[in-house]
Amino acid sequence: MTLNFAHRGFSGQFPENTMLAFEKAVEAGADGIELDVQFSKDGELVIMHDETLNRTAGVDGFVKDYTLEQLKAMDVSGKWGDRYGSMEIPTLREYFEHFKDLPVITNIELKTGIFPYPGIEERTLEMIREYELENKIIISSFNHYSCLKMKELDEKMPCGLLEESWIVGAGKYGRKLGMDFLHPAYPMVTESYVQDAADHGLKVNTWTVNDWDSMEYFTKIGVNAIIGNFPDLAEKALNPYR
Ligand code: G3P
Ligand code: MG
Repeated sequence: MTLNFAHRGFSGQFPENTMLAFEKAVEAGADGIELDVQFSKDGELVIMHDETLNRTAGVDGFVKDYTLEQLKAMDVSGKWGDRYGSMEIPTLREYFEHFKDLPVITNIELKTGIFPYPGIEERTLEMIREYELENKIIISSFNHYSCLKMKELDEKMPCGLLEESWIVGAGKYGRKLGMDFLHPAYPMVTESYVQDAADHGLKVNTWTVNDWDSMEYFTKIGVNAIIGNFPDLAEKALNPYR
């Protein structure tokens, strides 16, 4: 069975990485929610994709240079303008408070590819433990050191390597690093990629899958989860195979 993960929430129809997009993803039938986490200037875990604020908040500078209070004052509706009203940047704590009891997996992407955010793995793990969500989380990152760090802190925490660089022998590499998943960009994913991962004990979660044919194909070749912007469409495409 292939799982339906909503990329930045139901971001095809609602402002990405907002509580509204997460709520709508659950309503649409998503099995999981993918979201991106960074540190604010004062060390709070905030949910935001870009390191810069310009695209979604229309403000100059980086997320890391603003305090939570300053970030909270911003409107992150981005391209949706006032269609849904003003949107706040959520914290990971707010997200957990709201979604902890719902039957969804949360894929936390640690945005440590540009700024390393020292301590973000420890802080994220602490919060996961505080809310007792160890069994409903997958950690991923393009910075594979972040995944290694998470495994050092807790070897049982499910982790996946994000990649779009066509790593040769990805299965072997992932197993060597003690990972549970590979998170490749979808053009890389073929039957043999999934088989190679499986041969090394890994499952494949791929992104960003937004069209029906790809959804069907990835189901047929045994992908564990598709991560896409339209969980409503994915729900329909994946349903006959459930
Ligand atoms: O986690 C899958 C996907 O979100 C990775 O890329 O840039 O959308 O965070 P990005
Ligand atoms: Mg992401």
